[in-house]
Amino acid sequence: MSDELQSIDSKYKSLLDRFEPYVLSYPDNFSMFNMMPFGVEIPEENRLSCIDSKNAIFFNALQSLDKLTFGPVGMAMDKWIFFDCGEMPGGIFGLGIRPDKLDEDALWRYDLKDTKYTGLIPISMFIAIPMAKDKAWFGHNLCSANRFLGDKIPLSGLALLTKVLGVKTYKIEEMFGATQWNSGALNIHLQMADMEIVSSFTPAHSFNETITYRSRYLDEFLLKSLSGEKRVANSWDRLIISNDRDAIRELQYEIEDGKKFKIIGRPMMIDGETCIPIKETLTINLVATSQSEISNKRLHIDQFFSGQ
Ligand SMILES: CC(C)(COP(=O)(O)OP(=O)(O)OC[C@H]1O[C@@H](n2cnc3c(N)ncnc32)[C@H](O)[C@@H]1OP(=O)(O)O)[C@@H](O)C(=O)NCCC(=O)NCCS
Repeated sequence: MSDELQSIDSKYKSLLDRFEPYVLSYPDNFSMFNMMPFGVEIPEENRLSCIDSKNAIFFNALQSLDKLTFGPVGMAMDKWIFFDCGEMPGGIFGLGIRPDKLDEDALWRYDLKDTKYTGLIPISMFIAIPMAKDKAWFGHNLCSANRFLGDKIPLSGLALLTKVLGVKTYKIEEMFGATQWNSGALNIHLQMADMEIVSSFTPAHSFNETITYRSRYLDEFLLKSLSGEKRVANSWDRLIISNDRDAIRELQYEIEDGKKFKIIGRPMMIDGETCIPIKETLTINLVATSQSEISNKRLHIDQFFSGQ
């Protein structure tokens, strides 16, 4: 274990002992990546080219992983989305396992039963894409086999470890992402950093109740996120219950009126409800918006989304 990772919790050390890191991208992108994130070497043989037909089974296995995790919520991707929107412009970082370490049932879930394949099988992935905005990245996909292999192999902590190492591999300092208010993944994103809310209600996305967020990642906090200590908020300006559509829309109106908010700690269970701690950070009054303009804007959005 590298010096930098000496202080992380034993469950993450165990994952690193048992699984191999990989990165999949267009080969010319590789020189931009850190192939030793926090001292964890991505072996040469696991730096996979998306234009090499030898990796065809790996591409299929990756799609199986996506189907098994995002499929149930209707967000599974076609292969061209991996290629056009992930591998060519950015990268896919994750951890993998060799087939001889999985039983028949697990191989069957990956559609790999009865093949002679001995290559890596991805058990997690974090896809990130550079944005046109200078030095900013967009986190496009994070998933982990914990939800369908966790009963066979201990995988707790896999998604968090994958995102932390992925951020370091791509050298991301400023990252945008989109996640749903009721997503368990908030526990992962918020373990690593606060989330500035760029939009709280996002009709451009397939799911209106999506948070678009921006986080800034620093090595010190990335490592701390793996310490085993939960990153909880101590004080907040308001709590949003994760399924409170009205509160989510109201927050959006306030953002559009120039207010700024961030989520400052992991979701909390209060009286059986998942509550998200929010702090107002700074209000910018660049444009003096009249009350009637604000009311019109609200009426327009409410009419458009009435009945949802
Ligand atoms: C969400 C997902 C990535 C979590 O993967 P995972 O490997 O089980 O996550 P981790 O074990 O690393 O979770 C880190 C922490 O978040 C918590 N967590 C993870 N999923 C959670 C959930 N659904 N509800 C509540 N907490 C959750 C874990 O308990 C863990 O807590 P700890 O730090 O106290 O130990 C995985 O279930 C998945 O692939 N889901 C489908 C795709 C998806 O929704 N991706 C997120 C897109 S933004």
